[in-house]
Amino acid sequence: AAANAGKGQTSAKKCLSCHSFDQGAGAKIGPNLFGVVGRAKASFPGFAYSEAFKKLSGAWSYEDLDKFLSKPGAFAAGTKMTFAGLPNGEERADVIAYLRSISPE
Ligand code: HEM
Repeated sequence: AAANAGKGQTSAKKCLSCHSFDQGAGAKIGPNLFGVVGRAKASFPGFAYSEAFKKLSGAWSYEDLDKFLSKPGAFAAGTKMTFAGLPNGEERADVIAYLRSISPE
């Protein structure tokens, strides 16, 4: 099935304990994710990223988000995102479609 941003927004409730998706909102336990697609990794102003994250380079592409969200600790060993990940590829695609829908790119 084609990725569905609406379903992704529902799945993204799993992220809400740690992340806000609202424009202009601050960090929670994790950085704000409004506009994260195409944003430089580890660049939310004022957020104390892990050493693992500070080593990352480039912007968040679809592919990197897919890898990171599949298994966060495998993409960035030592990340402080203590979330098991989204093992289901269709659910990941939906969540990334949602993230795209709230990103400028
Ligand atoms: C970082 C997505 C769930 C805590 C990130 C980043 C993304 C992301 C894209 C990188 C942001 C950047 O580089 O600025 C998601 C999604 C989730 C989710 C889509 C749900 C499916 C969670 C949960 C927690 C969490 C449940 C807390 C238990 C964090 C933290 C970071 C982070 C602390 C910073 C990582 C570090 O500095 O090592 N998340 N996240 N996230 N997330 Fe999540």
